[in-house]
Formats: sequence, C-alpha cells, structure tokens
Amino acid sequence: METLGNWKRTHCCGELTAQDIGRSVILMGWALRRRDHGGLIFIDLRDREGIAQIVFDPEVCAPAHAVAESVRSEFVLAIRGTVIARPEGTVNPGMKTGEVEIRVEECKLLNRSKPLPFMLDEHSEINENLRLKYRYLDLRRPQLQQNLILRSKVSQLTRNYLTDNGFLEMETPFLTKSTPEGARDFLVPSRINPGNFYALPQSPQIFKQILMISGFDRYFQVVRCFRDEDLRADRQPEFTQIDCEMSFIDREDIISVMEGLIATIFKQTKGVEFPLPIQHITYDEAIRRFGVDNPDLRFGMELCELTDIVKGSGFKVFADTVAKGGIIKGLNAKGCARFSRKDIDDLTEFVKIYGAKGLAYVKIENNQWHSPIAKFFTPEEIADMNSSFGAEEGDLLFFVADKPKVVNDALGKLRNHLAGILKLTDRDSYRFVWVTEFPLLEWDDDEKRWAAVHHPFTAPMDEDLSYLESDPGRCRAKAYDLVLNGSEIGGGSIRIHQEQVQSRMFELLGMSAESARSKFGFLLDALEFGTPPHGGIAFGLDRLIMLMTGSDSIRDVIAFPKTQKGACLMSEAPSGVDNKQLRELGIRLAEKQP
Ligand code: AMO
Ligand code: AMP
Repeated sequence: METLGNWKRTHCCGELTAQDIGRSVILMGWALRRRDHGGLIFIDLRDREGIAQIVFDPEVCAPAHAVAESVRSEFVLAIRGTVIARPEGTVNPGMKTGEVEIRVEECKLLNRSKPLPFMLDEHSEINENLRLKYRYLDLRRPQLQQNLILRSKVSQLTRNYLTDNGFLEMETPFLTKSTPEGARDFLVPSRINPGNFYALPQSPQIFKQILMISGFDRYFQVVRCFRDEDLRADRQPEFTQIDCEMSFIDREDIISVMEGLIATIFKQTKGVEFPLPIQHITYDEAIRRFGVDNPDLRFGMELCELTDIVKGSGFKVFADTVAKGGIIKGLNAKGCARFSRKDIDDLTEFVKIYGAKGLAYVKIENNQWHSPIAKFFTPEEIADMNSSFGAEEGDLLFFVADKPKVVNDALGKLRNHLAGILKLTDRDSYRFVWVTEFPLLEWDDDEKRWAAVHHPFTAPMDEDLSYLESDPGRCRAKAYDLVLNGSEIGGGSIRIHQEQVQSRMFELLGMSAESARSKFGFLLDALEFGTPPHGGIAFGLDRLIMLMTGSDSIRDVIAFPKTQKGACLMSEAPSGVDNKQLRELGIRLAEKQP
C-alpha cells in the first residue's frame, strides 16, 4: 500500500470529456469493476462525480499493470495518466465520460477493501437491513449520492433565498421543554437536576414565536425535530424542518414568500417551473371533492355526493345510513368495469382498513347497471346517479355509506390506491396546492375534550372568533398546509398574539390555569409584553427531497436513518447503558416485564 506522497488530484473521475483528450491527469477513487482482457485491464474508477474508465497496458507501464491485476472491488486507487479517445465502437453514449478513457502511466494502491457484503450494483435487490448495517457502503451507490447531493443543494438554496428575503438564521435549543405538536416527546434526564428531564423539541414552535416577540422580524432555521411517533414510509423519529416565522404579516404574505422559495428550489435544481400563485382550496372543499386534506391533484376521480338521490331508495343499507345521519358518496373508476370479482374483493378489504363496512359497486356494461344492488333503485335514481358520476360505458362505480368521516376517509384513500393501480401518478409531474381554513379544533372522544388540529398556538379566523365560545367545532383556523402530489410537505399558521386568547385556548383544550402556567407560563408572560402579529410555517425537508427524487422511502434521502423500530442498525442505537451512568442520573430501571 502506498501514500499519496506529493500527488494532487487534478480532476474528478466523472468530469472528463472529449475536450480533455491529450491532458495528463491524476484521478483518485474506488475501483467499481475490473475487466481483464488478456493483456489490457480496464477498471471503472468511481468518485462522487461519476465514473472514468482507466486502462492498464503492460507495454505502457508494467508495474501499474501488476497492481491492477491485484485490484478487487472498492480498492482505493490513485492513478496518473493521459486522457485518450476511446477506440471506435467502444464509445458509451450513456455515460458523461463515455467518449474517453485514461491510459494509466503510474498507479498507487492507497487502500484495500474486504469483499463486500453486497454488490453496489444499482439494479440488484438488497435486503434493506443489510444496507442499513453497512450504510457507508450503501451511501457509495450513485442513487443515494445523488439524493444527498440534491438535499445539500436544496438547503443551500433555502438559506440563500430566505437570507435574500430578510430572514435571519437563528438557533433554538435542543435541550428544552416539551412543545406539543401531537406526538410523544423524547426525554433527556438532567444529571445536575435529578428527577428532572429536558424534552427534545418536536419543533422550535414556541422559541420562534418568542424571537418574534423579541423583534427579530423574520427567522428561519434548517433544524432537526424529534417526535416519538409510530413510523411510516414518510416519517422518521428525527427529521429536518425548514422552519420560518415572520412578524407584521398575514396569511397571504407568508404564502407568497414561501411559494417563491419552493418555486426557486424546483427551478434551480430540477429545471421545473410551475405557474404562481399556487392554487388554494379550503379544507372543506378538499374533503368534499377528494375525501382527504392532502389531495393528489395529478389525477381526477373526484368523489361525488349521492345522499340526496338515494336517501329514499329501496336499498336498505343506504336508506338506513341516511336515517342515522350518515351520508353516501361514490367514485367512478373510469374504464375499470373489467376488474374481476377478486379485484373488487381486494378493494373492499382495503376500504375496511378505514372503517367502511362494505364497498357497493356497479359495472356499466352494454349501457346497463350490472350490480347486486341494481335491483334496489328506480330508473330515475339510476339516471341521477349516472349523471353525478359522469358514468359511461366500461366504468366501475363505487359507493360507501357511513358517517361522513368514514365515507371520506375510505373513498379518499381508495382514490389514491386506485390511482396507484391505474398508474395515474406520474413521479415527474408536480402538482402543488395550498389547503386553507382548517378546523381549529377537533373533538377527542377518548379524552373527552377539544384538541388542536394544528397546534395550540394557531389563531382562529377573525370571522369565526365568536364560535370559540358558542360552537368550538365550527371555528376555522388561520392555518395552511402546502401539499405536493398528495403529501403534506409543509404546514403553518398565523399565531395567537394576545395573551387572553391564548389562555382561553389552553382552557378549551382542557388545561387548568395552573397546568397552562406550568407548561407555557413563559409564553403567556411573553405575550403580555408587546407581541406583534406573527405567523410562520415549517416544511419537511426530508419529505420534500423524497418527492423531488421520486424515492419510495424517506430513508433514501437521509444519510443515517432509523428503521421502522427506531433503530440505527449501523451504530446499534438505541443501546443499554452502564449502571454507573444510570446512577449518576438517579435512574433505576424497572424490572423487565416478562
Ligand atoms: P408540522 O407538525 O405540520 O408543523 O410539521 C411540519 C412539516 O414537517 C414534516 N414532518 C415530518 N417529516 C418526517 N418525519 C416526521 N415524523 C414528520 N413530522 C412532520 C411534514 C410537515 O408538513 N411547528 C409547526 C409549523 C408551524 O406552525 O410553523 C410544525 O411543526 O412535512
Ligand atoms: P349486503 O346487503 O351486506 O350483502 O351488501 C350488499 C353490497 O353492499 C355489498 O357489495 C357490500 O359490500 C355493500 N355494502 C354493505 N355495507 C355498505 C356500506 N356501508 N357502504 C357501502 N357499501 C356497503
């Protein structure tokens, strides 16, 4: 093995083109593949920027050729050589460096590698746990490198854009007090204050509001947030927000600055331009038309309302549902009359996950309704439903009858699920929508109290303020989410900036005055010292990058992610700790439950 000596790298592997022919270069990188053609040895040398083909000819340099004979996958090499044109017939137009190769004149073997636990070949299917254990190897794969390079660019563009727009980058503490964003806190015991705990922030929410009270006017931070919640494909226990707050503004001001940020990011990284302003839809309209508050607008298949048409019908399931205050809605799976019995049974099982009791269906064949439920409806009812569905020959109509929440949820999720099956979700198409006018509160039946839909610091809409006393469930919030292709990539609100309103809100949320004081006394105090009207937003950076790279898993855009069980398989966190450490913290573990 050799050292670098006085060698300095002149180029990256991936940057050489026909323009460099004749140049003497020094490259350094990893041996991806080696092909031995009798005399000549070819190695694909890889670094962050790409791959260069390097050629070892015993006639040019016998010692280098001898080194090349011993090279295995992922050995680390430095080579000095000359860029030459590839012989005719061997040009690879699929590669940036495909017109050239490097004739090696000197080679240093900088390090060896053990045989790999898996191939770095892009196309092989590798068990994800193995990939996560050897994350440093997985991260050598070009796809993951590209994802993280894009992530770095997006962070940089964000900093530039927000700084240019008068935002200050400021840090807020990680060892802090619990800020409720709806998840469980990660707790950190305090050694110096035995029996007391810090909470890792679920977001910098309260601190950024306090920075507005202090007069910083515009704040941002690309910041880690911690939430102990059940993990899914688009959630991690620690994730990154682009967190922003502004003073003396209203909803439209925030929306316009922030859609400018997103437009800049898309234009400068992907060359994708979309018209501004981004369309808005209210929460009520989103639920009515799409069943969900994060609608995917890349495809149609909107839900249709059928309650009035079928309430007096002979189909007992529907009539009884309406009599009990429920509703009936449907969706038209265009052209899907060919679906088999089994396909429909699978979809019925799918909607049951969301609480639906069944999934009635109708196939339109030979311009007739074909369905076990067709016999229950009059020709007029059928004609009215056809027109609501926009039904045509070959369509498959679905119906769900239940409480509004179940109907919307089940059909909304079915709509997304069908779009996947029917391949209506093009990853290269980006459809944004702002969802506004969320409800402020929702009733928590388990706890028998109101809960904040966004968080407890969100302001009610001015025109709904009186409902706070008379009918809290009707009160809409000055809250907004930015949704991209059916994923919530950001959410925020105008905040309550008056102490009395904030105290009243805590009360509505079932907090006693003492409990509000002990949890949020510092905020309530601060609100009384000249708080400007303010509001903000936070984008989920990981989710944004996931959508921009078309990744299926959030783990593919995070350098060192956690598994579904919250573990880092590489470092083996979380792990047990020494008794000594526990003693210092004044902690004794309970006996393990059998
Ligand atoms: P919210 O809770 O909506 O708002 O979070 C903002 C955005 O963060 C992303 N996100 C996540 N990403 C990955 N893993 C998770 N576990 C996770 N949880 C949330 C989402 C989401 O849109 N303080 C408020 C913002 C504000 O009001 O200004 C907040 O945190 O993309
Ligand atoms: P049943 O009368 O239970 O045999 O149901 C007849 C059809 O109606 C079946 O296709 C069921 O899946 C469907 N169905 C039953 N309950 C509901 C419901 N609440 N909403 C929609 N369809 C239903």
